[in-house]
Amino acid sequence: TDKYAVVGFPIGHSKSPLIHRLFAEQTQQDLVYEAILIDSEETSFRWEIENLKNQGYKGINITVPYKLDAFEFADDLSSRAQTAHAVNTYTFNADGTISGENTDGIGLVNDIEINGQTPFKGKKVLILGAGGAVQGILEPLLAKQPGLVHIANRTAKRAQVLGERFHTETPITGSGWEEIPLQEYDIIINGTSASLEGKIPPISPALIGKHSLVYDMMYGAKPTVFMEWAKQAQPSCKTMDGLGMLIGQAAEAFYIWRGVRPETAPVIQQVRESIT
Ligand code: ATR
Repeated sequence: TDKYAVVGFPIGHSKSPLIHRLFAEQTQQDLVYEAILIDSEETSFRWEIENLKNQGYKGINITVPYKLDAFEFADDLSSRAQTAHAVNTYTFNADGTISGENTDGIGLVNDIEINGQTPFKGKKVLILGAGGAVQGILEPLLAKQPGLVHIANRTAKRAQVLGERFHTETPITGSGWEEIPLQEYDIIINGTSASLEGKIPPISPALIGKHSLVYDMMYGAKPTVFMEWAKQAQPSCKTMDGLGMLIGQAAEAFYIWRGVRPETAPVIQQVRESIT
């Protein structure tokens, strides 16, 4: 039986053991997956990772607050991990090296394209926020060739700088809240951490079209405040929360480790029922 785990601090409420157990059942893979706390007051990320590697674990997921440590400690990095400047998936290779990957972005992209039935190709995309979470999704999102991407952020400069880092066919611009080009966007993604404080980015409701998809990277037992705001502004828009992204990033890690891609839709449903 191959061993895997997620590490973080805190880790008690992690859904990853449940998600990977459901994936393993669905694809009939023989594995165990645990949640392991790394308390930086008592030990170090590096020491714990070496320890898990020596104990024969095959791979590790890394969550808050260690994604940057994981980036720095990997022996080799995928292009996505390099662009995201963060790592959420380690593979322990037979030669003792550690490969670092970031599956958060592909998790979001697949959730929107497959479960949200909304392909990015040619679409107008508005992204709210310019922090670590947004940095992690841009490369896989741009690979889907959207028509245009605008990044808006409380600190305008951060959105502009982030936009300038990418050179693709897709026009990509950045601004503060007030300067968002006024038009209807097909896909609006909230990647700010404002929801943690129950706050909504102060954007115009006119940016939401009748058939827009409004996605919040946060999730909870109920629709998020941002989703409720969007529904009020434009009742016919479609809203999604970030549970599918969480399960999508896990599915991609599972694929890297096991070579099989689990179906996410039934697992989203099962995990949703476990959220209180
Ligand atoms: P994360 O890893 O969650 O992205 P982060 O890198 O600290 O964390 O980024 C947080 C993002 O949420 C930033 O875009 C931040 O805006 P600033 O760049 O202006 O700081 C945004 N954010 C956090 N709290 C917010 C609030 N109350 N209102 C609007 N935006 C907020």
